[in-house]
Amino acid sequence: MEALELTDKKIDEVRQGEAFSPFDNDPNKYSKKFYIESYGCAMNFSDSEIVASILQGEGFGATRNTEEADLIFINTCSIREKAEQTVRKRLTEFRKMKKEKPGMLVGVLGCMAERLKSKFLEEEKLVDLVIGPDAYRTLPGLITEAETGQKGVNVLLSREETYSDIAPVRLNSNGISAFISIMRGCNNMCSFCVVPFTRGRERSRDAHSIVNEARDLFERGYKEVTLLGQNVDSYYFTDSNHPMDKAITFAQLLEMVALVDPSLRVRFSTSHPKDITEDVLITISKYENICNYIHLPLQSGSSRVLQLMNRTYTRDWYKAKIDQIRKILPECGISSDIITGFCTETEEDHQDTLSLMEYSEYDMSYMFFYSERPGTLAARRYEDDIPEETKKRRLAEVVALQNRLSHESNKKDVGKSYKVLIEGESKKNDQEWKGRSSQNKTIVFPKADFDVQAGDYVMVKVTSCTQATLLGEIESI
Ligand code: 5AD
Ligand code: SF4
Repeated sequence: MEALELTDKKIDEVRQGEAFSPFDNDPNKYSKKFYIESYGCAMNFSDSEIVASILQGEGFGATRNTEEADLIFINTCSIREKAEQTVRKRLTEFRKMKKEKPGMLVGVLGCMAERLKSKFLEEEKLVDLVIGPDAYRTLPGLITEAETGQKGVNVLLSREETYSDIAPVRLNSNGISAFISIMRGCNNMCSFCVVPFTRGRERSRDAHSIVNEARDLFERGYKEVTLLGQNVDSYYFTDSNHPMDKAITFAQLLEMVALVDPSLRVRFSTSHPKDITEDVLITISKYENICNYIHLPLQSGSSRVLQLMNRTYTRDWYKAKIDQIRKILPECGISSDIITGFCTETEEDHQDTLSLMEYSEYDMSYMFFYSERPGTLAARRYEDDIPEETKKRRLAEVVALQNRLSHESNKKDVGKSYKVLIEGESKKNDQEWKGRSSQNKTIVFPKADFDVQAGDYVMVKVTSCTQATLLGEIESI
């Protein structure tokens, strides 16, 4: 999916902020404990918080220690082969643990569960549960079955499930920023992408439950929400209980969330270039708390390759979209996803990608070489004909260019001041804060003598930069 990529990171950070922690060490409170590890996109991390909520409702407590766990879950990603290999490696380690602790159950959740279905039980011996992204409500029953020695599998995809009524239990939160899932699935069928097969058809979550979740987070001290979906711009909610009501579009939803409170920052991810509307851009410009940052995956700069990818836009069309964003939101940060070495990609196509990256002046990009995924349109229709070394060489060129563009973009910010939401202490130095600007750039600055804390906004003047980070000093609070 096109989304904030957190690939290969685990949920292992739980900090302050939650009035109630699922990681309660009182041995009398929960009779059983689960451990959950997530891979892949932000949507998977968000889903793990739904799973945690369902499990907690059944009396399971969370633990960060696999040795304490009665249940181990791994929420998996299928987007590239490497993501699946990482999961397989981790499962091998869980298998060893299970041999030492036979009563323990191991469950595979998410996209790999959906893609491999019950094959998982044959391929990966000692996996007890296989549950696809739309079947988490059936977890309690499947766990009970698995406890009696049967294998539990549910990989049914749904056209309706949005887990709208389930309040996520925040697992990896800093108490300041949280994800809110606004839609599930994807109808786009980009030819390289496995997501439409693993996450099913697009459906939008009830707008009122989204706003309520944002309000609840704000009341609990959160200062930033990121609205998540594979393709947020095609959000379209029609209330089946009130069919005469007008549908709610993404632009309207953004406005509804922005109105929760002016000091709650609103972000969103991911936008498909073909779907982001002028209305969305105008809504962003109207509300100071809707961040000036758009993740707008290009994938390729060649119109020919874009057509093979089934992206439904051309190079010129994408350029016009960038122009429109720059016109309506001159301060907007823009980032991208790029794939190198897609089927039939020539050196000329590759040069088209590089030149369009230059044109777009991305602040940041997630960059990958093409990895054929079984069952996708590309796997069925086209030969994966670009040698791996060529894919990797082109990727290295794309990465080098992005590094230069990021550095240039950062250099332009030196001397300017930004409103920064403090997220916590800088990892390297406890005398410094780190936070982000509206444009999603990380800024590090000395605490100095200002009486502020994580969750506060400060005005920071940028004094210098590296390729990845802005450095500054507090100007005012
Ligand atoms: N190979 C390489 N990259 C891929 N992506 C999606 N599918 C593939 C694939 N088969 C990338 C796209 C997408 C991002 C989340 O992952 O760039 O936007
Ligand atoms: Fe994103 Fe396209 Fe995959 Fe949908 S099919 S998740 S739009 S890359």
